This record gives sequence, structure tokens and C-alpha cells, in this order.
Amino acid sequence: MTAAIAKRGAKATLIIKDVRVLDPASGVDACTDVTIEKGQIASIAPAKGKADDAHVINGAGKLLLPGLVDLHTHLRSPGREDEEDMASGAAAAAAGGYVIICAMPNTDPVADNAAVVYSQAEVAESDAAIRVAFLGSISRGEKGEHLSDMWDMAEAGVVAFSDDGHPVADAGLLRSAFQAAGRVNLPLSLHCEDLDLAGAGVMNEGRVSAQLGLAGIPCAAETADVARNLEMALYEGARVHIAHISCARSLAAIETAREAGAAVTCEVTPHHLVLNDEEVLGLDSNFKMNPPLRDEENRRQLVEALAAGRVDCIATDHAPHAWQEKETPFEEAAFGVTGLETAFPVLLTELVQPGEVSLEALVMAMSTNPAKAFNLPVPAIVEGGEANLCLVDVEEEYEIEPGNFFSKSRNNAFSGRRVRGRVLLTIAAGRLAFKRDA
Ligand code: DOR
Repeated sequence: MTAAIAKRGAKATLIIKDVRVLDPASGVDACTDVTIEKGQIASIAPAKGKADDAHVINGAGKLLLPGLVDLHTHLRSPGREDEEDMASGAAAAAAGGYVIICAMPNTDPVADNAAVVYSQAEVAESDAAIRVAFLGSISRGEKGEHLSDMWDMAEAGVVAFSDDGHPVADAGLLRSAFQAAGRVNLPLSLHCEDLDLAGAGVMNEGRVSAQLGLAGIPCAAETADVARNLEMALYEGARVHIAHISCARSLAAIETAREAGAAVTCEVTPHHLVLNDEEVLGLDSNFKMNPPLRDEENRRQLVEALAAGRVDCIATDHAPHAWQEKETPFEEAAFGVTGLETAFPVLLTELVQPGEVSLEALVMAMSTNPAKAFNLPVPAIVEGGEANLCLVDVEEEYEIEPGNFFSKSRNNAFSGRRVRGRVLLTIAAGRLAFKRDA
């Protein structure tokens, strides 16, 4: 039984009129009407008659996109439902335009066996407004000592394996994991960090860490582990996804491995694309995450790579934390920030509107490419396809206010920032998952 994708919500007959429909992967960019019937996209053409029970939405000046897909979400369920649970995490995702999120296994207990995955899927089935897919851990308890029950978890429907937050230091164990994942044709999603090089670092190692007197995490902690992991993936002929890269040299290594035949994909987070380590000068722990914000040169190179279509995926690394874990001295605060509700508006405002990245490149990296990377249903806007869409008001300006989030946690790096572009409606798996109140 495959149980690890869950969905919920009422199916509505809907006509979105005079909307700009953009789906670069399907070659669609047109101003027209979109009719959704019984959860499917019935037509992408001027709607002639109107069924009595149809809801009509005026889409003039708005943008209809394939729903977004997040490969890196921490839902904290089971174990820390005070920080996030399936319902709140999925609601936050739907409000951010997401139709599928992939939940990381660093829960309590860790998702390292099929029983945990089945129970997560059951909760998601009843509580989540959108599809939730699950990753299983690579090692038991994410301790890096013994392989988890990868075969059973594959049967339970996990879409990838990861020890996120904990790099797999033992190369022999990682090799076995590549072999086991290869047998079920699933990728490993790797958090790449050499812990000896990272030491007790709490931010990027560089001019700013020196100025603040804080222990730094050098880029080499990431790039050295990326290089090792890519070599092993190439050797084993295995699928690998490099999670949350923060350094331009990681991307260079990924491209070299790909040229050599590696089946490799990668992701960058919105915060690494928009912010640099200067943010840490104020010692606000909402700028503390792992990997850390890097210097401006790395940020700029990652943005250029995204613009050129060289970054496959943007993933949020949505990492909710309770206030008491963040409102402490910077050195002691937990690593991680939320992102599901801010990713799209922030990237639209900071990268697309100034002309640094095309809207098409953003949509590919936030929807089509991630869906393909983990073999998820691809949210295409095509007639006859399942409706997985989000409607965006590209003109609406507002200030990001974490107090208004659907997420249970407030630790966001974009708090107080003004953005232009707001998700109005999300339809996931043919069902209405989110509609913003007028
Ligand atoms: O900043 C992070 N927070 N990085 C990780 O790898 C894990 C995550 C979390 O679970 O809080």
C-alpha cells in the first residue's frame, strides 16, 4: 500500500476569468479563462456558458500558476506539535501557494520505520489541506550508525531518504544507503556538512563573524561534503539530491558531477537567495539557520545561477521553532526559519520584480523541477489534468507579519519586510485548499 501522500478539501466547480495563465513547462502563457470541474482543468479557453453551481472569480490582472512544490519542510509531527503540526503546516503551505510539501524525517520519534510513516500519512490524510509526502531517514534515529528500515519505508510510500540536519559522516554507511535507495529507485536528499570543519560555528565564517567574535562555519564545511557525496553517488550510479546549498562552489561541483553522468538535483532556499551574512550583525536569531547565510558574493552567484536555469529547485527548509528556542542569545538559539508563507512573495519581490530572475525561471524552480526531482505529480496547467494551481495578485503590497501566519511558529527571516504579490487561492489535488478572505 502506498499511503504517504495525503489530501483533503472540497471539490469546487470554478471559473477563473480573464487571468494570465503561466506554465512554462507546458508552454502556456495566455490571458484567458480557466474552468475547473470535478477537480480537473476542464478548459483553458474563453468560458462560454456558466453552470449554475459554478463559482466565478475575476482573474483580471492576476496570475494563475502551477501550484508550488516544496521538497524540504519540517512539520514537527510527531513530537513537537506545539511548533507545527500537519494541519498548521499544510495550511501555511496552501496559503503560500504550495500544493505538495515533502516532510523531513527529523521528528520525534524519527521517521526511520514504516510504522511512523504510515501514522504520519494517516494524520495528514485527515488533517492536511494539500498533499503531504514524506521522507524517511537514512539512518536509525538519524544517528549515522545503522541504516533505517529503508525497504519498508519505500513500501509505505516515502519519496526520498534524508538525515537532514545530521550529515551522514560514515562514508561506508552512506555507500550502503545509496545502494539500498537505488534498489527502490529513490533519491537520497543530503544535508552536506563536514562537522569537523563546522565545529561550534553559529554563522558563516568570514568578515562578519570576525567582527562579531562569533564562531563561523566555513563554506568548505559544505563544499567538502558535497564533493565527497557526489563522488559516491557517481560511483554507485545512484540518485542524489543536494539539500539547501548555500555556497556557489557547491553548485559548481554539482554541475561537474552532472556532466560526468551523475543523477543529481539540488535546491537553494529563499533566504540564501535574498539575504547575506550582514543580517547577523543585529544578532537577531531569525537570521540563524543551518547552513548559515553566506556572504554577498555567494548569494549573488546563486541568484545568477537560478536566473540561468542552473539551480534546479527552490526549497523552503521551513523549520518552525518555539519562541523560547529563538529568543535567547544568538549562539544558543536553534537553527532554522519558517518559509512556506513567505517564499513566493519574497522571491517575486526581491528577484523577479527587479528583473534579476524571470518569472518563468522562478516557476520552474518552485513547481515543475521539484516535482520531477522526487517523482511527484507535476502540477501542469493542461486541459484534462488534475487541478494543482495557485492564483496570485501580483499588485497587492503588504508587510510580512508573522503574527498573521497559519504556521504555529513565528521565526521568519522576512518579518516586517514589504512585499508585492499575494497568493489568493490554492487548489491542490483538485480541491480548494486555500482562499484568502477578501
Ligand atoms: O536550520 C535548520 N533547521 N537546518 C536544518 O538542517 C534542520 C532544521 C530544523 O529541523 O530545525
